Amino acid sequence: MTPIGEQPSHPPLVPPLAEHGALAMTEGELRDWGRRFGRSAHAPLLVTIAGELGAGKTTLVQALCAGYGVTEEVTSPTFALVHEYQAPRSPVHHLDLYRLERPDQLDEIGWDELVSARAVVLVEWPERAGDRLPAGHVTLSLQHLPDDPGRRLLYAGWHP
Ligand SMILES: Nc1ncnc2c1ncn2[C@@H]1O[C@H](COP(=O)(O)OP(=O)(O)OP(=O)(O)O)[C@@H](O)[C@H]1O
Ligand SMILES: [Mg+2]
Repeated sequence: MTPIGEQPSHPPLVPPLAEHGALAMTEGELRDWGRRFGRSAHAPLLVTIAGELGAGKTTLVQALCAGYGVTEEVTSPTFALVHEYQAPRSPVHHLDLYRLERPDQLDEIGWDELVSARAVVLVEWPERAGDRLPAGHVTLSLQHLPDDPGRRLLYAGWHP
């Protein structure tokens, strides 16, 4: 794994022990948290967002983008695999790798340039990228709660 560009790696945004905990959040709470995270984010920053279909990954990406200052509509890049948005502090690359069949298809979308750019890079379905994910990124994960359809468990960590 390669660190992001030549930049110093981004400091942990969440305490390392947070990855052992989780928060059950309503959609409103998740959007608030995402907007706050987006406001404090600075490029270069890679954030992976894992979770099953409908877990809330794109919902969280929309909130992160709003907090980071993206004013365009943020929609799921399921078919294009990547959407780029402009924000005051840097571009934002939003990737959804659900339809990726093999990690080597990442070359077709310019993965190495995308993840090493001075940008905020948000990746849904990050497990599809295998070992192509650079070191030094924030890991977010959302899980359904069997007994509460309106809440999701949010896990947040840092992959050194
Ligand atoms: N607490 C919650 N947090 C996030 N989304 C929620 C929550 N409760 C309900 N929802 C709903 O769940 C759906 C999540 O959809 P979203 O597109 O964000 O999921 P996704 O993880 O990106 O799915 P996909 O894998 O298909 O891309 C939305 O319709 C949203 O309104
Ligand atoms: Mg999605």
